[in-house]
Amino acid sequence: MTQDTIVSSWNDFDPLRHVIVGRADHCCVPPSEPAVDDKVPVDSKMKGMWGPRPLETVEAANEQLDGFAKLLESRGIRVDRPTPIQWNQAVSTPDFRTFSMFGCMPPRDVLLTVGNEILSAAMSFRCRYFEYLAYWPLMNQYFREDPNFRWEQAPRPRLTDESYRPNYGMGKHAMTIEERLEKVAAKEFVTTEVEPMFDAADVMRMGKDLFVQHGLTTNRTAMEWMQRHFPNHRVHAVNFPGDPYPIHIDATFVPLRPGLCINNPHRKMPEEQRKIFAKNDWEIVDAAMPAHDNPPPLCYSSTWLSMNCLVLDHKTVCVEASEVHQMEQMDKLGMEVIPVPLRDAYAFGGGIHCCTADVYREGTCEDYFP
Ligand code: ARG
Repeated sequence: MTQDTIVSSWNDFDPLRHVIVGRADHCCVPPSEPAVDDKVPVDSKMKGMWGPRPLETVEAANEQLDGFAKLLESRGIRVDRPTPIQWNQAVSTPDFRTFSMFGCMPPRDVLLTVGNEILSAAMSFRCRYFEYLAYWPLMNQYFREDPNFRWEQAPRPRLTDESYRPNYGMGKHAMTIEERLEKVAAKEFVTTEVEPMFDAADVMRMGKDLFVQHGLTTNRTAMEWMQRHFPNHRVHAVNFPGDPYPIHIDATFVPLRPGLCINNPHRKMPEEQRKIFAKNDWEIVDAAMPAHDNPPPLCYSSTWLSMNCLVLDHKTVCVEASEVHQMEQMDKLGMEVIPVPLRDAYAFGGGIHCCTADVYREGTCEDYFP
């Protein structure tokens, strides 16, 4: 790597030097649309409501996100922040219209860093179609600072009605959790295969291998696209049949250091898919139980944001400060734990890992699964 290198990251555990931390400004609960409706649990207070989130919740989330950014800076990590736009605007393309956007809290969902490339994802939510704009100033800046930076955008999906199964789990087709689990086991999701669609947070980067969760937000066509886009990588489809709402891998299967991952005990990786880890002497440990019985109000995610941690290096990890069981487990696994208060930001789209996106980690592209 030359001195000018700004962007480089091959995994989620090598020493972190530069990261993006999201912001909650102007975040909205998006209006009804096929992919989003399937994600909002039937009993959620969010069913049917949309619009800007209450200002006091935005301020509380921002305070914690700012605090997290300061903490990272105090450890010598460069932190950049997105430029929020007014998300409470209707948007339209030749193929769809929607009445509001989402926000720029979880950059992890949008930006996939692979080596010296940052790839904006082909997201399946219409309300998130223009979210990449919040990162555009940073991408442009890295492009100018770093002669090797590959500023990439996956093919923009059209997101016509063809991209979604009609009435999937909606209205009179509402599903119980058991019915959902059956669909998940059959790998039948709200999204179809007419075009590549993926969220960056469905991809777990481990050097030469990319493990990609097949679920509500990422389809098989996207995996085929990724394999052709990253010809020197191996793209593996993974799925977790215990998760009724499979979206984003980082509250399900999380690497802590070479040779060690934690796996959500309610969403175990199937035996068949574990083989590659076992064969290469990786240990997969059940994650500790969440400290909370329920997610905070107006939250899309489950209580399993408990395991959504940011690894700073092979021995140091940031865990949400109220997640006492997860902190204790990390400690037992030999990690130094940095507690970070972030629960007020959960409702905006995720936890400690989601609210960040890698720009630079030390290390090179290793082959952990030869
Ligand atoms: N699907 C996860 C859960 O509810 C939440 C994942 C959030 N991750 C993210 N990158 N936004 O358990």
